Amino acid sequence: MGIELAAELKERIARAKAQGLPQHLAIIMDGNGRWARRRGQARSAGHRAGLETAKKIVEFVGQELGIKYLTLFAFSKENWRRPKEEVDSLMELLADFLEKNLDQLLENGVRLRVLGELDGLPLRVRQGLERALALSRGNERLHLSLAINYGGRQEILQAVERILRDFAAGALPAKIDEALFRRYLYTAELPDPDLLIRTSGEERLSNFLLWQSAYTEFWVTKTLWPDFTPEELLQAVESFQSRQRKFGGVLES
Ligand code: IPE
Ligand code: IPE
Ligand code: MG
Repeated sequence: MGIELAAELKERIARAKAQGLPQHLAIIMDGNGRWARRRGQARSAGHRAGLETAKKIVEFVGQELGIKYLTLFAFSKENWRRPKEEVDSLMELLADFLEKNLDQLLENGVRLRVLGELDGLPLRVRQGLERALALSRGNERLHLSLAINYGGRQEILQAVERILRDFAAGALPAKIDEALFRRYLYTAELPDPDLLIRTSGEERLSNFLLWQSAYTEFWVTKTLWPDFTPEELLQAVESFQSRQRKFGGVLES
C-alpha cells in the first residue's frame, strides 16, 4: 500500500513537472498553536512540529518537485505581540535550525534569503542568518526565502523612505514606476509569487507580500501546518495548473 502510494505520487510529480510548475511558491505556515492545543501541549511544541514539516517541504520542493523559488512566512512583525516565552522559543528554534541544518541546505544547493528586518532579531538568530546568507550566495538550485520579522506594509514604507532618500541625493528620476519601486522591496531579486498556500483554514494575507501578491493564485487548506504533507502541496500545484490566469485581460478563444 505504502509503495503503491509512493508510485502514484511519483507519477503525479512527473505530470505536474510536465505541465509547468509555478516559478515561485509562497506559504503562510499557520496552525502550529492549534495543533499543539489539540494535543494538550504547549504552543512551543507546535512550533517544533511545524519546523519538522518546513524541513520536509523544503526538501520536497527543492529536490523532488524542482520549483525554483520558495518563500516561507516564519515570523511577522505582528508576532512580537505574542507572549515573550513563545517568541523566545520561536527564536531559539530558528537559531538551532540554522546551526544544525546549514550544511545540508548548502549541499542541496539552497540559496537563502531573508525578507524582513535583521535588526531587532536576537543576536544568535541574526548571526546564523548572516552566515547562511553569505555561504549560500553562489547557490541557485532552490531560492529559499524566509520571511522573518516581516510585514508587507512596513516593507512598502521602508521602500518609500529609501526612494525619498535616493531622490533627495539626486540618484532618481521624478517618475516612480513599478519596475523602479520593486527594486526597493525585500523581494527585489525575486519574481512575484505565482501560488500562495495558507494552512489551518484562515483566509487572509496577514500582512504578507502585499505588493507582490497582486495577481497571485491562492490555495487554502484546513490542515494545520504540522500535519501538512508533500502530497497536499502537490494538490495545490495541481489546482494551480487547472486555473487560467488572466491578469485583468480576457482569455483568447
Ligand atoms: C503559525 O502558527 C506559526 C507562526 C506564526 C510563527 P500559529 O502559532 O499562528 O498557530 P495558530 O494560528 O495559533 O494555531
Ligand atoms: C501569519 O500567521 C504569520 C506567520 C505564519 C508567520 P498569524 O497566525 O500570525 O496570523 P493571524 O494573526 O492569524 O492573522
Ligand atoms: Mg496563526
